[in-house]
Amino acid sequence: MLIVIEGIDGSGKTTMAKFIEEELKKRGYDVVVFKEPTNSEWGRRIRKAFKNRNLRPEDELELFIKDRIWDVKYNILPALKAGKIVVMDRYYYSTIAYQGALGIDPDYIRKLNEKIAPKPDLVIILDIKPETALERIRMRGDKPNRFEDLEYLRRVREIFLSLKNKNIIIIDAERDMEEVKSDVLNVVLKYIRGQNLSY
Ligand code: TYD
Repeated sequence: MLIVIEGIDGSGKTTMAKFIEEELKKRGYDVVVFKEPTNSEWGRRIRKAFKNRNLRPEDELELFIKDRIWDVKYNILPALKAGKIVVMDRYYYSTIAYQGALGIDPDYIRKLNEKIAPKPDLVIILDIKPETALERIRMRGDKPNRFEDLEYLRRVREIFLSLKNKNIIIIDAERDMEEVKSDVLNVVLKYIRGQNLSY
């Protein structure tokens, strides 16, 4: 089972992915979390390029795709084959939204990704206003990067919210963290139980 957590920077993805991991482990499930961009050569190049801000959107897209091909081959597929529940802290919906917000056709990005990466069973989008997200980023002492510019994040959020599919659940992440956690856990457990997954 492949579960994806998405949302703009500062929406709480990493906290929620860790929380799901702990809660599922407590219940006896075998679960692993992977984060994109990865620490592969491609992921490192992505981070370096972000600092220098010198990539064309098409080149950026290509790097994210290469990084994802690496992640699928070395992390995601082996874990799924071993019967684990895989939780992704970002996946190709980030590419659809972030590179889509740079002007590349979101539908083209989706098709490209669906050729190289397994489709998730469940996608949770943590929805938050870009203003709140930027405030959280500042509160944790980080300096916003080029992905964390207000206008850009507005476009990214719009694309996230336009994604419609029965497996995509949008959760209001503007609320108290405990409320968000409880909603996220309920969605995940309901899905897992509906699948009758044994452990
Ligand atoms: P992030 O999860 O914030 O990583 P870190 O913890 O290292 O800051 O990801 C870095 C940025 O990458 C984030 O602002 C969104 C962007 N991104 C894309 O533009 N496209 C993608 O496909 C992915 C996975 C991330």
